Amino acid sequence: MIDISTKTKKESGAHYTPTELANFVSKQIIANYSTKNNKTIRVLDPAVGDGELLLSLTAILYKNDITNFELNGFDTNSQAIKIAQYRIKSQYPALKINLMASDFLQFVVRNYVNHGLFQDNNLEPFDLIITNPPYVRTQVLGADKSRDLARIFNLSGRVDLYHAFLKALTYVLAEHGTAGIIVSNRFMYIRSGEAIRKDLLSNFEIKGILETPNYLKQRFYLLY
Ligand SMILES: C[S@@+](CC[C@H](N)C(=O)[O-])C[C@H]1O[C@@H](n2cnc3c(N)ncnc32)[C@H](O)[C@@H]1O
Repeated sequence: MIDISTKTKKESGAHYTPTELANFVSKQIIANYSTKNNKTIRVLDPAVGDGELLLSLTAILYKNDITNFELNGFDTNSQAIKIAQYRIKSQYPALKINLMASDFLQFVVRNYVNHGLFQDNNLEPFDLIITNPPYVRTQVLGADKSRDLARIFNLSGRVDLYHAFLKALTYVLAEHGTAGIIVSNRFMYIRSGEAIRKDLLSNFEIKGILETPNYLKQRFYLLY
């Protein structure tokens, strides 16, 4: 786990996932995914942090004799990206890794929401997504950013950064892909979660929702 200041943590929503929970989600993802061809499996963590989730999923893929995959990741914290890169590379030197110190939401907006304007070349969707997205409330995000996110991702009410992440994932998951998401359960019952609930239901086949015991004083749901 990297050491970042409380202020940075609050602004970027950085709470790192304990290994046990990471392993649990990884196992659920593999149990719900079946490879249909020999194509390279594109794995994504859109908010990598120090790489715990990608490390966990990589170990479980190998344990299941799945070796034809590559890792992709984003994080706005460049120090975290360096640490994730180092941790993964030192354990799996031959693995193809593409970690970017950049904003995942901007990537989605540029390539999917406003597509056609500034598209990247390599735009294949992702087959496996594992994530614990950042939680940053409207008060911390600031009114302007919150309003922008609401407009771009068609959200309403008090927008939290993880709302935008959940919506953004609907653009990038491959048709037969599987996502394992560790997320606060608040969007399940608050009014501003309505748009996300609808979007998740119409874009994903929900394989399971699981509530964990009070973890980090919040309750989490896993969608896969
Ligand atoms: C809840 S932490 C999860 C980290 C890691 N995946 C884990 O589970 O241990 C969220 C991470 O999101 C990053 N983050 C915040 N805003 C982001 C953005 N717009 N795009 C990509 N990453 C972002 C933070 O820097 C932080 O590392």
